[in-house]
Amino acid sequence: MRFDTPCYVIDEQHLLKNMEKIQWLREHAGIKAVLALKCFSTWPAFELMRNYMDGTTSSSLYEARLGYEEFGKEVHAYSVAFAKEEIPELKQYANKIIFNSISQLKTFHKDLSSCDLGLRINPGISSSDYDLADPARPNSRLGVTDYTAVMDAVPLINGVMIHYNCENEDFDDFSKSLDHIAETYQDLLHKLDWVSLGGGIYFTLDDYPLDKFAEKLKTFSERYSVQVYLEPGETAITGAASLVTTVLDIVHNEVDIAIVDSSIEAHMLDLLIYREPAVIEDSGQGRHRYQVAGKTCLAGDVFGDFKFHKPLKVGDQIHFADAAGYTMVKMNWFNGLKMPTILIRRLDGRHETLKTFDYKDFKFNLGSYWNTHNYSKKGRHE
Ligand SMILES: Cc1ncc(COP(=O)(O)O)c(C=O)c1O
Repeated sequence: MRFDTPCYVIDEQHLLKNMEKIQWLREHAGIKAVLALKCFSTWPAFELMRNYMDGTTSSSLYEARLGYEEFGKEVHAYSVAFAKEEIPELKQYANKIIFNSISQLKTFHKDLSSCDLGLRINPGISSSDYDLADPARPNSRLGVTDYTAVMDAVPLINGVMIHYNCENEDFDDFSKSLDHIAETYQDLLHKLDWVSLGGGIYFTLDDYPLDKFAEKLKTFSERYSVQVYLEPGETAITGAASLVTTVLDIVHNEVDIAIVDSSIEAHMLDLLIYREPAVIEDSGQGRHRYQVAGKTCLAGDVFGDFKFHKPLKVGDQIHFADAAGYTMVKMNWFNGLKMPTILIRRLDGRHETLKTFDYKDFKFNLGSYWNTHNYSKKGRHE
């Protein structure tokens, strides 16, 4: 099927596969799962997801509001630092408010006496391969490291959030670090109602031992009599969307370079930040090699080097895989490129358009004055 490009296509069938695993885990481990909106907040897709998850978790007032308005159920509100003015509004949306520091907890708890409050703990360990994403990196500001201070704050909180994994596919590693956390914080854990283990655990992958994972979480939850929460982002939507692009030109500079009507900088920024190549659906291992590149002016706007089964030509469409997580949330107007339309393939196979963008969206992104008079084809300064 050909698409008007560029476009993101979310696939409900694939989303459902992930959702069913989350649902299985909720039933067998007794955990609750809240979607991390920082990873995926294309809210028209929540219609399906809300049947399989317990709510959302957020990193800002706006995300908390979105979770409240469009997902419903539980709203967890966390922020690296809340501003004083945000607190009254936040209270309207959030079931749980999780502070990043003792100072913020102490400053705001008086205004939140009826709320379920939590504190983010930094356990000093993590599974991250990237310094950029490592919450336990040296001098990290993410969570409280002083255990004595956390114990002193226990009368003010009902739970804690400990996010220490990043794309962790290794169950044994997860298991060992949970044992370490359990041992380190046992006195604290016995005093809490809930513990969120954050996100970053890739448990929807095909060969992840979901049964062992469920058992581990259940044992932890029972030992300390706490409600365990997970905050899945990437694992909830992995594989559930693609970015479809069209080849506009093919140039040659020692290698063949196919230029598409999109950009890794503008439409798959996370890959560029982490210096990872994109993955093309079904590109296979043919003998026709191309560098596939974006159309912005950035020299390094390159999706990657790929081997195709047939020579590429102008007009061919290329589907980049895994374009849901940390992708749509980071898209930007660099170079004024056309923003990808967002489509969803419903369970019955129908394609529905969720959002289109045009010049007005680009213009009003950075200003709200629309010059209606004095406007000619030559521009308003003429
Ligand atoms: C506190 C917290 N919760 C949940 C997540 C979601 O993690 P992931 O998308 O890797 O599952 C993150 C990601 O950075 C996070 O910082």
